[in-house]
Amino acid sequence: MSSYAVGVVGGDGIGPEVVTEGLKVVAAAGIELDLTHYDLGGARFLKDGMVLSDETLQEWRGLDAIYLGAVGAPGVPPGVIERGLLLKMRFELDLYINLRPFKLAGPDGHDFVVIRENTEGTYAGEGGFLRKGTPHEVATQGSVNTRRGVERCIRFAFDLATERNNHLTLVHKTNVLNFSADLWQRTFNEVAVDYPGVTTDYNHIDAACIYFVQDPQRYDVIVTDNLFGDILTDLGGAVSGGIGLASSANLNPGGLDGDTPGPSMFEPVHGSAPDIAGQQKANPIAAILSAAHMLKHLGEPEAAARIEAACDECATMTGSTSEIGDAVVAKL
Ligand code: IPM
Ligand code: MN
Repeated sequence: MSSYAVGVVGGDGIGPEVVTEGLKVVAAAGIELDLTHYDLGGARFLKDGMVLSDETLQEWRGLDAIYLGAVGAPGVPPGVIERGLLLKMRFELDLYINLRPFKLAGPDGHDFVVIRENTEGTYAGEGGFLRKGTPHEVATQGSVNTRRGVERCIRFAFDLATERNNHLTLVHKTNVLNFSADLWQRTFNEVAVDYPGVTTDYNHIDAACIYFVQDPQRYDVIVTDNLFGDILTDLGGAVSGGIGLASSANLNPGGLDGDTPGPSMFEPVHGSAPDIAGQQKANPIAAILSAAHMLKHLGEPEAAARIEAACDECATMTGSTSEIGDAVVAKL
């Protein structure tokens, strides 16, 4: 059996605690990883100013995957770590798909997936200040939507829909965003022609928030832009057992053969939760499920499925971070 080269960024707050459990479970599932740990995040920045070096990024391009806990620490100005580490990783490694699966609690256990565009939109950093600090200050923050970027994301979502239940919903704001939503809707309609077996739907983002709470069963695969996807997936976590269960995969689907060769990155949706850091209070399930997704991506679907099934059985369990990790291991 092969061993996979995985870079680990435990990061800040509860990040290292939940990552420890994820790696414990992967090892218990019999998958060997060749781990390189990177001391990066808010705490590292406060120590010596390092956020992410070009050398580290270059090293990552040679890895099979990256496993991340959470980054962000009190005392670090907003944006430094988010833009300098997390978004830089997503952008530079061209992790253009942010895949976030959800499973509703209850007997039917309906599951659905949000495909969030991960390299463009308002996250791109277009904009700036004029007359900063004066009473006449102007701040703009543009949304960057390229035909290529939008189309590759929508195609990925259609492909996923064909592997699942042949239903795809576009979520955007066509009634107001007359430029960006127009490009998304036109691209969506054009790509749909190539997938005659997939039924399509459209919801405005605000309406989708209501449906997430009142009727999430209507969804199977959703595709949406970066910022809408960020907000919607926190809501997705909240309505499907809590953010402590929400996992994510930041994918460069082309991988080594794509335009930007390199690994994909796997992380829980939740943040570093500094208020409960170091207390073994965090639920590691989101991080463990993210590790399972990593194994699927590495070509170990059988181990991934076993871990997912074990997590299902432990989803409502209470206990310390390591107790929940141990319980998942016991169920394997
Ligand atoms: C997420 C997070 C990030 C985002 C932050 C930490 C930059 O909220 O992964 O959802 O906004 O994408
Ligand atoms: Mn978020």
